[in-house]
Amino acid sequence: MGAGIAEVVARGALPVVGIEINADALERGRGHLEKSTGRAVKRGKLTPDGQREILDRIELSTDFAALADCDLVIEAVPERIDLKRQVFARLDEVCRADAVLATNTSSLSVTEIAVATNRPTKIVGVHFFNPAPVMKLVEVITTVLAEPAAVAGVADLVTKLGKTPVTVGDRAGFVANRLLFGYLNQATAMLENGHATRDDIDVAMKAGGGLPMGPFTLMDLIGLDTCLGVLDAVYAESRDRRHAPSPLLRELVAAGLLGRKTGRGFHAYDGAPAETVE
Ligand code: 3HC
Repeated sequence: MGAGIAEVVARGALPVVGIEINADALERGRGHLEKSTGRAVKRGKLTPDGQREILDRIELSTDFAALADCDLVIEAVPERIDLKRQVFARLDEVCRADAVLATNTSSLSVTEIAVATNRPTKIVGVHFFNPAPVMKLVEVITTVLAEPAAVAGVADLVTKLGKTPVTVGDRAGFVANRLLFGYLNQATAMLENGHATRDDIDVAMKAGGGLPMGPFTLMDLIGLDTCLGVLDAVYAESRDRRHAPSPLLRELVAAGLLGRKTGRGFHAYDGAPAETVE
Protein backbone atom coordinates (compact mmCIF):
# COMPACT_ATOMS: atom_id res chain seq x y z
CA MET A 1 0.00 0.00 0.00
CA GLY A 2 2.86 2.37 0.82
CA ALA A 3 4.31 2.15 -2.69
CA GLY A 4 0.84 2.53 -4.25
CA ILE A 5 0.11 5.65 -2.19
CA ALA A 6 3.56 7.13 -3.00
CA GLU A 7 2.79 6.57 -6.70
CA VAL A 8 -0.60 8.30 -6.42
CA VAL A 9 0.94 11.37 -4.77
CA ALA A 10 3.87 11.53 -7.21
CA ARG A 11 1.45 11.21 -10.15
CA GLY A 12 -0.23 14.30 -8.69
CA ALA A 13 3.06 16.19 -9.32
CA LEU A 14 3.99 16.41 -5.63
CA PRO A 15 7.37 15.44 -4.22
CA VAL A 16 7.29 12.35 -1.98
CA VAL A 17 9.65 10.94 0.62
CA GLY A 18 9.12 7.20 1.08
CA ILE A 19 10.44 5.67 4.30
CA GLU A 20 11.03 1.94 4.63
CA ILE A 21 12.16 -0.07 7.61
CA ASN A 22 15.37 -1.41 6.01
CA ALA A 23 17.29 -1.61 2.73
CA ASP A 24 15.55 -4.82 1.59
CA ALA A 25 12.08 -3.37 2.10
CA LEU A 26 13.21 -0.21 0.33
CA GLU A 27 14.33 -2.23 -2.71
CA ARG A 28 11.00 -4.10 -2.73
CA GLY A 29 9.18 -0.75 -2.60
CA ARG A 30 11.27 0.55 -5.51
CA GLY A 31 10.42 -2.66 -7.42
CA HIS A 32 6.67 -2.13 -6.80
CA LEU A 33 6.90 1.46 -8.05
CA GLU A 34 8.79 0.45 -11.19
CA LYS A 35 6.42 -2.45 -11.92
CA SER A 36 3.25 -0.44 -11.40
CA THR A 37 4.35 2.57 -13.48
CA GLY A 38 5.94 0.18 -16.04
CA ARG A 39 2.55 -1.49 -16.50
CA ALA A 40 1.09 1.92 -17.39
CA VAL A 41 3.88 2.47 -19.94
CA LYS A 42 3.22 -0.96 -21.52
CA ARG A 43 -0.47 -0.11 -21.82
CA GLY A 44 0.35 3.21 -23.51
CA LYS A 45 -1.10 5.22 -20.58
CA LEU A 46 2.26 6.78 -19.65
CA THR A 47 5.37 7.65 -21.67
CA PRO A 48 8.78 6.39 -20.51
CA ASP A 49 9.68 10.06 -19.76
CA GLY A 50 6.47 10.44 -17.74
CA GLN A 51 7.37 7.31 -15.79
CA ARG A 52 10.87 8.68 -15.06
CA GLU A 53 9.39 12.01 -13.87
CA ILE A 54 7.05 10.18 -11.46
CA LEU A 55 9.83 7.98 -10.10
CA ASP A 56 12.21 10.96 -9.79
CA ARG A 57 9.71 12.74 -7.53
CA ILE A 58 9.98 9.90 -4.99
CA GLU A 59 12.97 9.98 -2.68
CA LEU A 60 13.39 6.70 -0.80
CA SER A 61 15.13 6.48 2.56
CA THR A 62 15.34 4.38 5.71
CA ASP A 63 15.85 7.47 7.88
CA PHE A 64 12.78 9.05 9.55
CA ALA A 65 14.69 12.35 9.69
CA ALA A 66 14.09 12.67 5.91
CA LEU A 67 10.45 13.52 6.82
CA ALA A 68 11.41 16.68 8.74
CA ASP A 69 10.10 19.13 6.10
CA CYS A 70 6.98 17.25 4.97
CA ASP A 71 3.54 18.90 5.20
CA LEU A 72 1.71 15.56 5.37
CA VAL A 73 2.87 12.07 6.35
CA ILE A 74 0.81 9.00 5.39
CA GLU A 75 1.71 5.95 7.46
CA ALA A 76 1.11 2.45 6.00
CA VAL A 77 2.89 0.08 8.41
CA PRO A 78 1.34 -3.33 9.32
CA GLU A 79 -2.00 -3.28 11.13
CA ARG A 80 -0.83 -3.54 14.74
CA ILE A 81 -1.95 -0.81 17.10
CA ASP A 82 1.25 -0.98 19.22
CA LEU A 83 3.39 -0.58 16.10
CA LYS A 84 1.25 2.28 14.74
CA ARG A 85 1.40 4.13 18.07
CA GLN A 86 5.16 3.68 18.20
CA VAL A 87 5.57 4.99 14.64
CA PHE A 88 3.34 8.02 15.36
CA ALA A 89 5.26 8.87 18.54
CA ARG A 90 8.44 8.87 16.44
CA LEU A 91 6.81 10.92 13.64
CA ASP A 92 5.68 13.43 16.26
CA GLU A 93 9.32 13.93 17.25
CA VAL A 94 10.79 14.31 13.77
CA CYS A 95 8.05 16.16 11.84
CA ARG A 96 7.30 19.88 11.77
CA ALA A 97 4.84 20.95 14.48
CA ASP A 98 2.26 22.02 11.86
CA ALA A 99 2.53 18.81 9.79
CA VAL A 100 -0.57 16.61 9.53
CA LEU A 101 0.08 12.95 10.29
CA ALA A 102 -2.31 10.50 8.64
CA THR A 103 -2.78 6.77 9.04
CA ASN A 104 -3.83 4.44 6.23
CA THR A 105 -5.28 1.96 8.73
CA SER A 106 -8.07 -0.33 7.43
CA SER A 107 -9.78 -0.79 10.77
CA LEU A 108 -7.77 0.37 13.80
CA SER A 109 -8.84 3.30 15.95
CA VAL A 110 -7.43 6.58 14.60
CA THR A 111 -8.16 8.13 18.00
CA GLU A 112 -5.96 5.59 19.81
CA ILE A 113 -3.18 6.42 17.38
CA ALA A 114 -3.73 10.18 17.80
CA VAL A 115 -3.31 10.08 21.57
CA ALA A 116 0.14 8.51 21.18
CA THR A 117 1.30 11.95 19.93
CA ASN A 118 1.43 15.48 21.32
CA ARG A 119 -0.60 16.76 18.35
CA PRO A 120 -3.86 14.76 18.39
CA THR A 121 -5.63 17.64 16.58
CA LYS A 122 -3.46 16.99 13.52
CA ILE A 123 -3.98 13.23 13.29
CA VAL A 124 -6.46 11.93 10.70
CA GLY A 125 -7.15 8.70 8.87
CA VAL A 126 -6.65 8.48 5.12
CA HIS A 127 -7.76 5.06 3.92
CA PHE A 128 -6.80 4.09 0.37
CA PHE A 129 -8.14 0.98 -1.37
CA ASN A 130 -6.13 -1.73 -3.04
CA PRO A 131 -4.67 -1.29 -5.66
CA ALA A 132 -4.20 2.34 -4.61
CA PRO A 133 -3.24 3.66 -8.07
CA VAL A 134 -6.51 2.31 -9.50
CA MET A 135 -9.23 2.57 -6.85
CA LYS A 136 -10.98 5.94 -6.70
CA LEU A 137 -12.22 5.96 -3.12
CA VAL A 138 -10.25 7.38 -0.19
CA GLU A 139 -11.96 7.50 3.21
CA VAL A 140 -10.83 10.50 5.25
CA ILE A 141 -11.37 9.67 8.91
CA THR A 142 -12.08 12.34 11.46
CA THR A 143 -11.94 11.94 15.25
CA VAL A 144 -13.39 13.87 18.17
CA LEU A 145 -9.94 15.43 18.60
CA ALA A 146 -9.13 16.28 14.96
CA GLU A 147 -9.06 19.91 13.82
CA PRO A 148 -11.67 20.43 11.04
CA ALA A 149 -9.00 22.26 8.97
CA ALA A 150 -6.70 19.22 9.07
CA VAL A 151 -9.50 16.91 7.91
CA ALA A 152 -10.65 19.32 5.17
CA GLY A 153 -7.05 19.84 4.01
CA VAL A 154 -6.55 16.10 3.55
CA ALA A 155 -9.89 15.73 1.73
CA ASP A 156 -8.88 18.60 -0.63
CA LEU A 157 -5.56 16.95 -1.35
CA VAL A 158 -7.29 13.63 -2.10
CA THR A 159 -9.51 15.43 -4.64
CA LYS A 160 -6.47 17.10 -6.22
CA LEU A 161 -4.89 13.66 -6.60
CA GLY A 162 -7.88 12.61 -8.73
CA LYS A 163 -9.47 10.44 -6.03
CA THR A 164 -12.92 10.63 -4.46
CA PRO A 165 -12.87 11.43 -0.73
CA VAL A 166 -15.63 10.61 1.73
CA THR A 167 -15.31 11.88 5.30
CA VAL A 168 -16.29 9.31 7.90
CA GLY A 169 -16.23 8.85 11.67
CA ASP A 170 -13.71 6.78 13.62
CA ARG A 171 -15.63 3.48 13.80
CA ALA A 172 -14.12 0.04 13.13
CA GLY A 173 -14.10 -0.65 9.38
CA PHE A 174 -15.22 2.95 8.70
CA VAL A 175 -17.87 2.73 5.93
CA ALA A 176 -16.59 0.66 3.02
CA ASN A 177 -14.88 -2.15 4.96
CA ARG A 178 -17.77 -2.37 7.43
CA LEU A 179 -20.11 -3.13 4.53
CA LEU A 180 -17.70 -5.07 2.31
CA PHE A 181 -16.38 -7.48 4.94
CA GLY A 182 -19.81 -8.72 6.03
CA TYR A 183 -20.17 -9.95 2.45
CA LEU A 184 -16.63 -11.39 2.23
CA ASN A 185 -17.07 -13.22 5.53
CA GLN A 186 -20.41 -14.67 4.42
CA ALA A 187 -18.74 -15.95 1.25
CA THR A 188 -16.09 -17.73 3.36
CA ALA A 189 -18.79 -19.22 5.61
CA MET A 190 -20.64 -20.50 2.50
CA LEU A 191 -17.48 -22.17 1.26
CA GLU A 192 -16.81 -23.67 4.67
CA ASN A 193 -20.36 -25.03 4.93
CA GLY A 194 -20.16 -26.67 1.51
CA HIS A 195 -22.86 -24.37 0.15
CA ALA A 196 -20.93 -23.94 -3.13
CA THR A 197 -17.37 -24.21 -4.40
CA ARG A 198 -14.83 -21.41 -4.27
CA ASP A 199 -14.92 -20.95 -8.03
CA ASP A 200 -18.71 -21.04 -8.26
CA ILE A 201 -19.01 -18.38 -5.55
CA ASP A 202 -16.39 -16.25 -7.31
CA VAL A 203 -18.13 -16.66 -10.68
CA ALA A 204 -21.57 -15.94 -9.19
CA MET A 205 -20.49 -12.58 -7.81
CA LYS A 206 -18.51 -11.62 -10.91
CA ALA A 207 -21.07 -12.65 -13.50
CA GLY A 208 -24.19 -12.03 -11.42
CA GLY A 209 -23.12 -9.28 -9.04
CA GLY A 210 -21.35 -7.20 -11.65
CA LEU A 211 -18.20 -7.08 -9.53
CA PRO A 212 -14.70 -6.99 -11.06
CA MET A 213 -13.56 -9.89 -8.84
CA GLY A 214 -15.24 -12.64 -6.86
CA PRO A 215 -14.87 -12.60 -3.06
CA PHE A 216 -12.00 -15.12 -2.83
CA THR A 217 -9.96 -13.47 -5.57
CA LEU A 218 -10.55 -10.15 -3.83
CA MET A 219 -9.54 -11.43 -0.38
CA ASP A 220 -6.35 -12.86 -1.90
CA LEU A 221 -5.63 -9.40 -3.38
CA ILE A 222 -6.28 -7.62 -0.07
CA GLY A 223 -4.24 -10.16 1.97
CA LEU A 224 -5.93 -12.67 4.27
CA ASP A 225 -4.13 -11.30 7.35
CA THR A 226 -5.56 -7.86 6.58
CA CYS A 227 -9.01 -9.41 6.07
CA LEU A 228 -8.79 -11.16 9.44
CA GLY A 229 -7.62 -7.93 11.11
CA VAL A 230 -10.58 -5.98 9.69
CA LEU A 231 -13.09 -8.65 10.74
CA ASP A 232 -11.63 -8.97 14.24
CA ALA A 233 -11.82 -5.19 14.73
CA VAL A 234 -15.34 -4.82 13.33
CA TYR A 235 -16.62 -7.82 15.30
CA ALA A 236 -15.04 -6.52 18.53
CA GLU A 237 -16.92 -3.23 18.09
CA SER A 238 -20.22 -4.40 16.55
CA ARG A 239 -20.67 -7.88 18.08
CA ASP A 240 -22.59 -8.56 14.87
CA ARG A 241 -22.14 -12.29 14.12
CA ARG A 242 -21.86 -11.58 10.41
CA HIS A 243 -18.44 -10.17 11.25
CA ALA A 244 -17.22 -13.05 13.46
CA PRO A 245 -14.27 -14.24 11.34
CA SER A 246 -14.81 -17.59 9.69
CA PRO A 247 -12.58 -20.36 11.19
CA LEU A 248 -11.37 -21.17 7.65
CA LEU A 249 -9.99 -17.65 7.25
CA ARG A 250 -8.26 -17.90 10.61
CA GLU A 251 -6.76 -21.27 9.65
CA LEU A 252 -5.37 -19.95 6.35
CA VAL A 253 -3.78 -17.00 8.13
CA ALA A 254 -2.26 -19.28 10.80
CA ALA A 255 -0.82 -21.40 7.99
CA GLY A 256 0.83 -18.32 6.45
CA LEU A 257 -1.31 -18.59 3.30
CA LEU A 258 -2.03 -14.90 3.01
CA GLY A 259 -3.03 -14.57 -0.65
CA ARG A 260 -1.10 -13.11 -3.55
CA LYS A 261 1.65 -11.69 -1.41
CA THR A 262 2.73 -15.16 -0.19
CA GLY A 263 1.85 -17.01 -3.40
CA ARG A 264 -1.15 -18.86 -1.90
CA GLY A 265 -4.40 -17.97 -0.22
CA PHE A 266 -7.82 -19.17 -1.35
CA HIS A 267 -6.20 -19.55 -4.77
CA ALA A 268 -2.63 -20.60 -5.62
CA TYR A 269 -0.42 -18.11 -7.48
CA ASP A 270 2.90 -19.91 -7.12
CA GLY A 271 2.30 -22.76 -9.55
CA ALA A 272 1.61 -25.15 -6.65
CA PRO A 273 0.04 -28.34 -8.08
CA ALA A 274 -3.00 -28.25 -5.79
CA GLU A 275 -5.13 -25.18 -5.24
CA THR A 276 -5.41 -24.38 -1.54
CA VAL A 277 -9.14 -24.43 -1.02
CA GLU A 278 -11.75 -25.55 -3.50
N1 3HC B 1 -1.25 -1.55 -9.44
C1 3HC B 1 -1.43 -0.55 -10.31
N2 3HC B 1 -2.31 -0.60 -11.35
C2 3HC B 1 -2.98 -1.76 -11.51
C3 3HC B 1 -2.84 -2.85 -10.63
C4 3HC B 1 -1.93 -2.72 -9.56
N3 3HC B 1 -1.72 -3.69 -8.67
N4 3HC B 1 -3.67 -3.83 -11.05
C5 3HC B 1 -4.31 -3.39 -12.14
N5 3HC B 1 -3.89 -2.13 -12.41
C6 3HC B 1 -4.42 -1.26 -13.47
C7 3HC B 1 -4.05 -1.71 -14.86
O1 3HC B 1 -2.81 -1.15 -15.28
C8 3HC B 1 -5.20 -1.15 -15.67
O2 3HC B 1 -5.01 0.23 -15.85
P1 3HC B 1 -5.62 1.00 -17.16
O3 3HC B 1 -7.10 0.77 -17.15
O4 3HC B 1 -5.23 2.43 -16.94
O5 3HC B 1 -4.97 0.37 -18.35
C9 3HC B 1 -6.41 -1.31 -14.74
O6 3HC B 1 -5.85 -1.37 -13.42
C10 3HC B 1 -7.18 -2.59 -15.03
O7 3HC B 1 -6.28 -3.69 -14.91
P2 3HC B 1 -6.40 -5.07 -15.70
O8 3HC B 1 -7.08 -4.83 -17.04
O9 3HC B 1 -5.07 -5.74 -15.73
O10 3HC B 1 -7.25 -5.99 -14.76
P3 3HC B 1 -8.73 -5.83 -14.33
O11 3HC B 1 -9.58 -5.10 -15.29
O12 3HC B 1 -9.08 -7.22 -13.94
O13 3HC B 1 -8.63 -4.93 -13.01
C11 3HC B 1 -8.48 -4.61 -10.71
C12 3HC B 1 -7.86 -5.30 -11.92
C13 3HC B 1 -8.35 -3.10 -10.86
C14 3HC B 1 -7.71 -5.09 -9.50
C15 3HC B 1 -10.02 -5.01 -10.66
O14 3HC B 1 -10.13 -6.40 -10.70
C16 3HC B 1 -10.70 -4.50 -9.43
O15 3HC B 1 -11.14 -3.35 -9.36
N6 3HC B 1 -10.87 -5.39 -8.42
C17 3HC B 1 -11.55 -5.05 -7.17
C18 3HC B 1 -10.60 -4.35 -6.26
C19 3HC B 1 -11.26 -3.91 -4.98
O16 3HC B 1 -12.44 -4.11 -4.73
N7 3HC B 1 -10.45 -3.28 -4.11
C20 3HC B 1 -10.89 -2.86 -2.80
C21 3HC B 1 -10.48 -3.88 -1.79
S1 3HC B 1 -10.90 -3.40 -0.13
C22 3HC B 1 -9.58 -2.50 0.37
O17 3HC B 1 -8.59 -2.34 -0.31
C23 3HC B 1 -9.68 -1.90 1.73
C24 3HC B 1 -8.62 -2.44 2.65
O18 3HC B 1 -8.68 -1.72 3.86
C25 3HC B 1 -8.74 -3.90 2.94
